[in-house]
Amino acid sequence: MANMKEIAKLAGVSLGTVSHVLNGSATVREPLRKRVMDAVASAGYQPSQLARGLRRDKTNMIGMIIPDVTNPFFPAVVRGAEDVAFEHGYRLVLCNTDNDHAKEIVHMNELRTYLPSGLIVIPSSFSDLTAQAESFRRSGAAVVCVDRLPLNWNGDTVTADNEKGAYDATNYILRQGHKQLAMITGPRHLTNSTNRLKGFKRALAEKKIHLGPEYIQEANFDQHGGYAKTLLLLRMIPRPTVIFAGNDMIAFGALLAFREMGLHCPDDISLFGFDNLDLAEMTSPPLSSVSQPGYQMGTTAAQILMDRVRGDDGPPKHVVLDTAIKIRDSVGKPVTGDNVHTSRTPARAARVSRTGRKR
Ligand code: RIB
Repeated sequence: MANMKEIAKLAGVSLGTVSHVLNGSATVREPLRKRVMDAVASAGYQPSQLARGLRRDKTNMIGMIIPDVTNPFFPAVVRGAEDVAFEHGYRLVLCNTDNDHAKEIVHMNELRTYLPSGLIVIPSSFSDLTAQAESFRRSGAAVVCVDRLPLNWNGDTVTADNEKGAYDATNYILRQGHKQLAMITGPRHLTNSTNRLKGFKRALAEKKIHLGPEYIQEANFDQHGGYAKTLLLLRMIPRPTVIFAGNDMIAFGALLAFREMGLHCPDDISLFGFDNLDLAEMTSPPLSSVSQPGYQMGTTAAQILMDRVRGDDGPPKHVVLDTAIKIRDSVGKPVTGDNVHTSRTPARAARVSRTGRKR
């Protein structure tokens, strides 16, 4: 591949002139500029970002660390961040932690050595990123945390209003007449999980509805957790008439458990999710869910980062984005009578629904 010296030779100009043209660091007369650009085109020259980064102690790379790109919530956040970064001439490098803090630390330490301009993190479980974030900041790179907040974090943040989303969803459920509710939260050490639980409890407390602690179960933010904890809840007496899932993946697991137990949603039991993934409208029945703006979380975080890169050294920013409930068909009126108190056998339940309808 051609280098700058060869371009200078080809164009018949000095190395300095080539550098001024390519970096825009000084005005160069049009005929000379054109000769340089023609030489660049004919040699197929691409400036090395690495060499440029080494000269400036900073590359145009933005690191992004997320829990797991196969969870359908996160790609929207990544896409939002990348779109803004790209517009500003920055490129995104993605790393997955699998919610493993040790892996997260490895990614943070290594990414820093590539001299990125900044880092966007959706923290893993149990994150304390203070030391790593400090070393990023010392090297002049900004760090923004998104969606979940690490321990002791004092930097920029972009989150959704998780508490309000859960509060609104619970109130909707209560308005349908449910009194025997259950919730399957995500991991309780994650701030978004605890805030969703707070919203759920606040709505219940306002209506003076008391739930035994066994009706609040904790799972990983995935389908397996939702499935296992739903089976457990379905064995409880009285059986919950509705389950509020800490995210849609948990809700998908719940739907699977309902199906296996021969229960029809919402005839026999209702369900509400959180995230409003695209898949939520494709389940049977389509899932009611709290929508949080994943794409906008990404664009907002990247915009804050771009501002920091360009010299904004104001106090930490904390952006909280709004949530909204999306009502579909998975919440009905509560089941009354004996069905609430007993778990039906899958065989019988498969034949007859609460309304007596054959299935
Ligand atoms: O589905 C992934 C969940 O974890 C989402 O609810 C999101 O808020 C994330 O933290």
